Amino acid sequence: MKNKSHQTMRAVAIDEFGGIEKMKPRELPVPEVATDEILIRVETAGVGVWDPFDREGGFAKEFGTQPHFPHVLGWDGAGTVEEVGADVQSLKRGDRVYGINDFMNPKGGFYAEYAVIKANNAATIPPALSTRNAGVLATDGVTALDGLARALQLKAGESILILGASGGVGHLAVQLAKRMKARVLAVASGRDGVEFVKRLGADKVIDGHQEDILKAAHEFAPQGLDAALLMTGGKAADQAITALRTGGRAAYPNGVPDVPQTSEGVKVMSYNGEPSSQTFATLNKLIDGGPFEVHIARTFKLEDAAEAQKALNDHYLGKLALVLS
Ligand SMILES: NC(=O)c1ccc[n+]([C@@H]2O[C@H](COP(=O)([O-])OP(=O)(O)OC[C@H]3O[C@@H](n4cnc5c(N)ncnc54)[C@H](OP(=O)(O)O)[C@@H]3O)[C@@H](O)[C@H]2O)c1
Repeated sequence: MKNKSHQTMRAVAIDEFGGIEKMKPRELPVPEVATDEILIRVETAGVGVWDPFDREGGFAKEFGTQPHFPHVLGWDGAGTVEEVGADVQSLKRGDRVYGINDFMNPKGGFYAEYAVIKANNAATIPPALSTRNAGVLATDGVTALDGLARALQLKAGESILILGASGGVGHLAVQLAKRMKARVLAVASGRDGVEFVKRLGADKVIDGHQEDILKAAHEFAPQGLDAALLMTGGKAADQAITALRTGGRAAYPNGVPDVPQTSEGVKVMSYNGEPSSQTFATLNKLIDGGPFEVHIARTFKLEDAAEAQKALNDHYLGKLALVLS
């Protein structure tokens, strides 16, 4: 049980949807744990590129969800289990865990000292990863794995282009695709992005802002690529889809703008990263297969969460994070 001094917690919340100025450090009650939930003492919270959309009320509007204010922001993170609900068998107090919050959870999110999530939305952290770095793994790792395994059904020996390979989802997708024994053409951002993704083991890396994607794809897979995972849209996504062989397939998580919806002879599909015990188990198993990097470009204190959201507009590699302890 949390002790008396932990009945309230520091958090960053909004009282209404809107701009970055709505984000306020607050003292709020620690959320109560239901029978199927866990209470996590948060060490790191991921700062997602979708967090500003959440703050502005974009998700609430899109899905017709009634918001609960104050709304504590933050979709994912990692820390230590402080308390488990009566029905939870899979985790225990003291476990190091990472996890994803339920959509618009009225109990709040991970921009806080404590977060309550469903036990099924969490997993123990692979031994080789620090709790700090695992804080940015849950959403991006599940989204990368679901894209490769569930949407694209990637097979060993297939060629895949990963667009946005130096970003949050992309850098994990590159490593997971290699573990799945695919041939990976990574399209990264900037010279630093190219160096970073080379280190992660991609077979070929190009800078998507400077180099010709179609030419690189043709050299990499002269008969056309088997698959493409798209973390950004526009012309680069168009070219990646054009580089697919007949019968090839492309996938992108919902939220990526400007992706062509169809193209002759290929399948283009959207999907969501969906946490489940099975997906976390597969993710952890793949991560356990050797050195695996979950990259945090910059960290911010909880109180500086607004600065962190501003920094989402900068060029950076991997992901941004709030560090609480
Ligand atoms: N539906 C879901 O379940 C779900 C879950 C997670 C994420 N998402 C969505 O998936 C997308 C990716 O998320 P993320 O966290 O990976 O975002 P991210 O870190 O911003 O990744 C996108 C990357 O693409 C790079 N990029 C842009 N244009 C490029 C080009 N022409 N060539 C090479 N790289 C290029 C960006 O770098 P620069 O900024 O430096 O150009 C950035 O590193 C977002 O739209 C997010 O909302 C959806």
